[in-house]
Amino acid sequence: AVEKNVKPAANKKKEFDGKESAAAFRFKNKKLKKGQEVNYFLIMGMSSDSDDKEAERKIMFVFNRLNSPDKIKSSLDKTKKYWCDYLSRTELDFKDKTFNNWLLWVKIQPTLRKLFGCSFLPHFDYGKGGRGWRDLWQDALTLLINEPDKAKNLMLESFEGVRIDGSNATIIAKDGKLLSDRNHISRVWMDHGIWPYISIRSYINKTGDLEVLNKNIPYFRDHLLKRAQKIDLNFCQKDYYLYTKDGARYKGSVLEHILIQFLTSFFNVGNHNVIRLENADWNDGLDMASENGESVTFSFMYAYHLEDICFFLEKMKGTAKKLFLLKELTLLLDKINGLADIYGVSYSRSVDYNDFRGKQSRLEKYMEEIECVSGDKVEVDIDDLIYDLKEKSNHLFNWLRDKEWVKEGFFNGYYDNNSKCVEGNFKGKTKIMLASQVFAIMSGGADDYQIKKIWNSVKKHLKDKKLGGFRLNSDFESIYLDLGRAFGFSYGDKENGAFFNHMIVMFAYALYGRGFVKEGFDVINSVYKMCTAKEAKIYPIIPEYFNGSGEGVYLYLTGSASWYIYTIIDAVLGIKFILGDILLAPGLTCQNFFKNTIETKFAFENKRIKIKYIKEKDKDSAYNIKKVLLEETEIPCRNKGYIIKKEKIKEINKKEIQLTVYLG
Ligand code: G1P
Repeated sequence: AVEKNVKPAANKKKEFDGKESAAAFRFKNKKLKKGQEVNYFLIMGMSSDSDDKEAERKIMFVFNRLNSPDKIKSSLDKTKKYWCDYLSRTELDFKDKTFNNWLLWVKIQPTLRKLFGCSFLPHFDYGKGGRGWRDLWQDALTLLINEPDKAKNLMLESFEGVRIDGSNATIIAKDGKLLSDRNHISRVWMDHGIWPYISIRSYINKTGDLEVLNKNIPYFRDHLLKRAQKIDLNFCQKDYYLYTKDGARYKGSVLEHILIQFLTSFFNVGNHNVIRLENADWNDGLDMASENGESVTFSFMYAYHLEDICFFLEKMKGTAKKLFLLKELTLLLDKINGLADIYGVSYSRSVDYNDFRGKQSRLEKYMEEIECVSGDKVEVDIDDLIYDLKEKSNHLFNWLRDKEWVKEGFFNGYYDNNSKCVEGNFKGKTKIMLASQVFAIMSGGADDYQIKKIWNSVKKHLKDKKLGGFRLNSDFESIYLDLGRAFGFSYGDKENGAFFNHMIVMFAYALYGRGFVKEGFDVINSVYKMCTAKEAKIYPIIPEYFNGSGEGVYLYLTGSASWYIYTIIDAVLGIKFILGDILLAPGLTCQNFFKNTIETKFAFENKRIKIKYIKEKDKDSAYNIKKVLLEETEIPCRNKGYIIKKEKIKEINKKEIQLTVYLG
């Protein structure tokens, strides 16, 4: 139309509904002689200044820096150099140009999202800028790979978003400020308590900095109380910090913040004694079951974390046997003898965890107490705390394993607003959701037999024969207003049965983590295949999801990029960290290899570590490590693992240190 100067036909107006607008212009025809060239440089400026003069000044400032071909070239060169240096901090070389190149772009995605927020490129209907709670913790995961210190600061600032009721501010604005909610809707996502722990655990393991858990930081306080069940109409503070009843800013350790997230969730159950769904979980689309909905899916994760954090608590005992926690929190540490006496006899008794009402009323008591926090701390024995947390974890795991396994061979992940079970077989129709299976596996809730069953069910009901990918759920064929708006999307779009990459990557991560390496590869490879298939119609990146036709949608702004790189490094290449040491436990099969070697380089303890994996022969199953050389020295295998001590790395007087891993 631009070329021929055709105006959009008025009667065809309808064709434009729902499409993005475009502007275009043309140049005068120009004839070039052989070998001659012509360049056009286009400089555009925009300013949000309401003052025209100021806007012009700013635009001209930039314009003057770029108003000649030479200036443009040098600026472009500088830009390219910046990004190439940035990307070379962690190098992944699978010896295949296309895959390597694609990985480079995926690696840059989390940074782009960090810079531009969740509203980038033409898919603008998504959010209003700023980053959501989950996004933030996901970004921290990749940041951790290259810049643990930066990640530490980001995490500490973000922990200040936790409310004393266990919920949190959900948005971090561009200027770093914490906001209650993007759209001024009072709501709580029940999964939010699990992401901070995943990232901080990763940080502690990478650096060995256990002390971070003792760091005292403030809490977030706004007009929302009782996990957004109550509004404080008198709220008129100038800042968003929590103050004690005596007017002092209340601070608690990072550990206390985490415990509050876990413990409030543990007690916050519905009629099936499963943690309430509240306004949704990871799946933002499950947002219409706030009264009676329950999420088995993330209950599994809370059960897991309640136990997992005990590993760090055990280690903390090396420096102190006791720690200090907010007095009110002892109400939720009911298995510690005598602690709850502070609140009188009726609350000193331990709660019967099989009774959902008992849990609810204990939580209610806590919520009442913290409306005006005392600020007092009580001393808690770390061993007692470990005992209490393990009791909770065991109870929850057993409860879920016992009650939520569906005989068709997978887990039910939800109860809807009518308190009805969501997944299973209903009049011959199978309803199954991927997330429900992913977290049962990742948490360790599903045993090996169940994982095999789940794998078969997922392949049968969620794997798309034509496109090869895994869908988020089977077709429920209803709008399902008792669960959420997700089911109002057409099947195959967004949170209703699309190929949702974040969940697919976490599925792969979960399978690798449980030793199902071949299955993990099938899953993670499906992402790469779909990304590079012609149906995808995208740049070389991971989009948020693929729709039913395999087309990639919502480019750049997805958390799956972070999780993809994390999975490649942690699960596939098996470069894990335990309290500052490197543990090698790769999940490699011959399908990962394009040639006989894979190489990676990353920063560690102010040095570069280069790891080279060498496969000596092709093999049907996952490779085992045959030998590891740190430079020339062989590393012994201990308890089936190869650990390279931080001290060993420090001792070597070289900037780049080579690790060679022989696989067989
Ligand atoms: C988006 C949101 C994420 C949410 C997911 C599913 O995914 O950002 O918080 O969990 O939808 O509803 P993403 O764009 O990160 O892939």
